[in-house]
Amino acid sequence: MNLLRIDSSARASSESRRLTARFVQDWKSENPAGSITERDLATTALPHITDHWSATYADPAKLTPEQRQYLSISDELIEELRAADTVIIGAPMYNHMISWELKAWIDQVVRMGKTFVYDTLGPKGLLHGKKAVVITARGGSYPAGTPRAAVDFQEPYLRHILTTLGFSDVTFIHAENLMSAQAESSRAAATASIQKSVRQRAENEAQEVIGAAQV
Ligand SMILES: Cc1cc2nc3c(=O)[nH]c(=O)nc-3n(C[C@H](O)[C@H](O)[C@H](O)COP(=O)(O)O)c2cc1C
Repeated sequence: MNLLRIDSSARASSESRRLTARFVQDWKSENPAGSITERDLATTALPHITDHWSATYADPAKLTPEQRQYLSISDELIEELRAADTVIIGAPMYNHMISWELKAWIDQVVRMGKTFVYDTLGPKGLLHGKKAVVITARGGSYPAGTPRAAVDFQEPYLRHILTTLGFSDVTFIHAENLMSAQAESSRAAATASIQKSVRQRAENEAQEVIGAAQV
């Protein structure tokens, strides 16, 4: 099993990083033979989308050295995604949305012909059979069914992007109210959810292996 951990907060005191680290720690205990790739978007130089991006629609054999160079980080990030069975994303909420580091990563990996194609029904993801767990860190809270939920542009956006890429199993764990008196209990709740999620996933995967062996 391959786990890809993506961090997208540049804060040294990042709450989302602490929680993705916890996920990795729990995942290692459940998957001692598994491999882990860590992608820190705070220290990855991500290019702007410039006119060079049109090279993604060109014949790869005809790319100029400059276009190849421009697309090299996109190629690298997409290969990391392809190699992963599970992707864990640490997502801070800034101004009701994701960090710009995470948005810049999305702009590099949503790539026609590589991670999605258009068919008659619209975009179709090419990253099949992968699971994503998004751990968000938020100062406030945005409970479903309340007026606050309408200004959570983070979960709906990320869910849409991951689904567009082909992920069929996307789980969100929210660490909320981190800038309030409830911060400590919220951290504890998120940590418990991570532990439960990792254990549940390991059990499900073991069942899938047994099921496949019995066919
Ligand atoms: C620039 C900035 C904008 C923020 N905007 C929001 C916001 O819109 N909603 C919210 O609930 N918390 C907001 N927060 C609080 C963060 O979500 C919180 O600090 C969280 O821990 C950030 O994740 P990190 O610790 O991994 O960086 C904001 C924090 C900063 C620094």
